[in-house]
Amino acid sequence: MSHSLQKLHTFGFQASAAQVLHCKNNVELLQSLDKSTKSKQLILGGGSNIIFGGHADLTIIKNEIKDIQILDQDAHHIYIRVGAGVIWADVIQHALQHNYGGIENLTLIPGTMGAAPIQNIGAYGIELRDVFHSLAAVDRRTGVTKEFSKKECRFDYRESIFKQEAKNKYVITDVTLRLTKRDHQIKADYGAIKKTLEQNSITNPTIQDISNAVAQIRMSKLPDPSIIGNAGSFFKNPIISKNKYTALLEKYPNMPSYPISDSQVKVPAGWLIDQAGWKGKAIGGAAVHDKQALVLINKNNADISDLIQLYQSIQLDIQSRYDISLEREVTIYKNGVELIDD
Ligand code: EPU
Repeated sequence: MSHSLQKLHTFGFQASAAQVLHCKNNVELLQSLDKSTKSKQLILGGGSNIIFGGHADLTIIKNEIKDIQILDQDAHHIYIRVGAGVIWADVIQHALQHNYGGIENLTLIPGTMGAAPIQNIGAYGIELRDVFHSLAAVDRRTGVTKEFSKKECRFDYRESIFKQEAKNKYVITDVTLRLTKRDHQIKADYGAIKKTLEQNSITNPTIQDISNAVAQIRMSKLPDPSIIGNAGSFFKNPIISKNKYTALLEKYPNMPSYPISDSQVKVPAGWLIDQAGWKGKAIGGAAVHDKQALVLINKNNADISDLIQLYQSIQLDIQSRYDISLEREVTIYKNGVELIDD
């Protein structure tokens, strides 16, 4: 049996799997889980951070648990429990409609609620961990639900325990967010947001204004996955030592950086790739987006081999120019096997 995965991942490559199961609630999920240690199952959210190619001898479990409930509240905060299958855009919409603050800077990030904590999604000065309270996840071997606190999730920049030792061990079923009901902490200090608000003559922005500004910025440089296949930022922004950065500045005086600690800085991978001349370059049908060099796109009926060749050529080039290794942000499954870079 073969089920197409083309519409289940935003890169849109032709790909297939042995089976695709759609689970709409916890009961369906528990019934579908194969608890054996040799399980050939893969849990899928919105498919916006995973890329498939070839045929996977796997059962893809599409997590479609959709429900938003108020769990608790106090004078300032509301705790909402969101089903893992709720589309992130709908979480944003729900928050804006009810005037709940804290996630407006994460407007237009594709994907689902359940996938968001795995890589601690972030944009424009906010990360999911800033509003995260806890999550519930089913242990794939035992079927028992475990509640994870924020601390237990071990969030870091595009990282969590679910990409490390808990990888593939749990299915996230719902996530509790702690949002503000009033006195929202507006985060408008990110350069592009400031500029957009100024252009729109907004001096005292509401959460809706911030959401609108972020949408405007993202639409101006990030390709819409429903039109051009892509998975957002392809690489993480590398974190390097301050010493290395100081040495690089001699040769590249305009290299931007963001402080991380006393001894480390983060440099934008998009800048490195752009400066290396990759913007708009293509290998086969896969290309570097011409408005944001950190985004690789399915420009012209690419297949997964084009994309692999392209991203590995970029990694080699960045390594040789700046002595910096670029780590992928996206997960790639080729013929059902996860691709691991050296
Ligand atoms: N830059 C260039 N050329 C490019 C791209 C970027 O010179 O082609 C420079 C920009 O001028 C800027 C710097 O690089 O000085 C950073 O660029 P930008 O603000 O566009 O953000 P980014 O670091 O490329 C990160 C996230 C995005 C998030 C934005 C906004 C990562 C891997 N990516 O991108 O997240 O939307 O910041 O906060 O951290 C995603 O994870 O899929 C994603 C889109």
